[in-house]
Amino acid sequence: MIQMKKSKISVIGLGFVGLSLAVINAKKGFQTIGIDSDKKKLKNLQKAKIDFFEPNLSKYLKESIKSKKISFTENLAQVLKTDITFITVGTPSAKDGKIDLTSLKKVVSDLHKILKNKPTSHLIVIKSTVVPTTTTQIVLPLLKNLKNVGVAVNPEFLREGNALDDLMKPHLIVIGSKNEQDYKTLERYYKQFYQIMPDVIKTDQNTAEMIKYANNAFLATKISFINAIANICQKLPSVDVNTIAYAIGKDPRIGSQFLQAGPGFGGSCLPKDLSALIKFSEKFGDHNLFFKAVENMNQLQLLQIIQMLKSMKLFNSKKVISILGLAFKKDTDDLREAVSVKLVKNLLKNGLKIQVHDPMALLNFKNIFQEKISYFKKIEDCLEGANCCIILTEWDDYKKLKPTVFKKNMKERNIIDTRRIFDPAKFTEFNFKAIGLGPM
Ligand code: UGA
Repeated sequence: MIQMKKSKISVIGLGFVGLSLAVINAKKGFQTIGIDSDKKKLKNLQKAKIDFFEPNLSKYLKESIKSKKISFTENLAQVLKTDITFITVGTPSAKDGKIDLTSLKKVVSDLHKILKNKPTSHLIVIKSTVVPTTTTQIVLPLLKNLKNVGVAVNPEFLREGNALDDLMKPHLIVIGSKNEQDYKTLERYYKQFYQIMPDVIKTDQNTAEMIKYANNAFLATKISFINAIANICQKLPSVDVNTIAYAIGKDPRIGSQFLQAGPGFGGSCLPKDLSALIKFSEKFGDHNLFFKAVENMNQLQLLQIIQMLKSMKLFNSKKVISILGLAFKKDTDDLREAVSVKLVKNLLKNGLKIQVHDPMALLNFKNIFQEKISYFKKIEDCLEGANCCIILTEWDDYKKLKPTVFKKNMKERNIIDTRRIFDPAKFTEFNFKAIGLGPM
């Protein structure tokens, strides 16, 4: 069989998506150039140092640097040495909740200047999450008159903390392109990337963009749905939302994933994408009551925790609250839109004393709250003298904790388990509250 020459790849924007993509490309044998405007980040990457945590990424990065399959630069013109450029720059929320496309527009107009004289064909792949019509109405006009340059929209479904696995085994590849050639180029690349080719949906650019939003909006909806059920369970002694979630998850029409009740969804994607979708559809006069309800439900979970503290008579300045888990979910050090940040701000405003622990996000938390709260590397030390412990992140280390650890170290036996990681039956001596658990 004739082996096709592997495409050369450039990736612009080295956040968790871009860097994961670049590193896995290099690991798979593609010559890869990672491009970013942040000089400090690049310097660190050249030394295989990553400024966030993603399981195994550091190991694979070291291997790829050693095998010389990956290099890093701030010079965008390096894309000329490659065949396919993935754009993975951030598209954050602006103050009004709309999508902020500043970085994307800058990169695309710079690429226009650089690729103007490229003699061979080049494919630009938009991986950044962008609201529908961004590619057709903003990206393509910025690239006008480029003869050899194609554009495809190729959203990703990577989860932080699982990015490499999700890259290796995606449930789907979506390719939105205007012409057959661009589609074929990207499909050929993926055929080189995967031994077993995942399912591919070939569609237009607007649809590809919308698929990403529909996907994240549905995930957000599932979480707000189970949290709404949890809040009803809260009023029903003996009804446990985990049992409800397990039961309805057995229905293949519903599915078992994303039915874990908790303090609300955070992170850099679900909240921002939901808000961008709402703002986008408002342009057409859509009131979007449904997604606004999903958003409101999410914000309600924080109030639910505060309500629990109040009902336990712990919401006053004499109380010490120990928080286990700060990251927006386990296996990451990311605090973006984390409930922990909002909760601590609220508790501090009301004069409570805060002690925190997290296996990975402690330093990032310190950068926000400085000396206003106390930070602990050991769980036991974080519990010392506390009137209440709130579990905010479902770290595996916390799941192993026995009631004796709490009993030994805390001043009072109050626990709020927002992630439902403990078996309430084992905490009968405690004033134990959990989201979606009837009063004990
Ligand atoms: C999310 C999507 O899951 C990815 O498919 C998508 O690619 C990514 O956004 C993106 O757009 O880039 P991520 O933000 O990494 O991924 O995090 P999730 O695993 O989706 O979790 C989001 C939040 O929902 C977390 O706070 C998590 O604790 C919460 N969650 C999740 C629940 O409260 N309950 C659940 O059952 C699941």
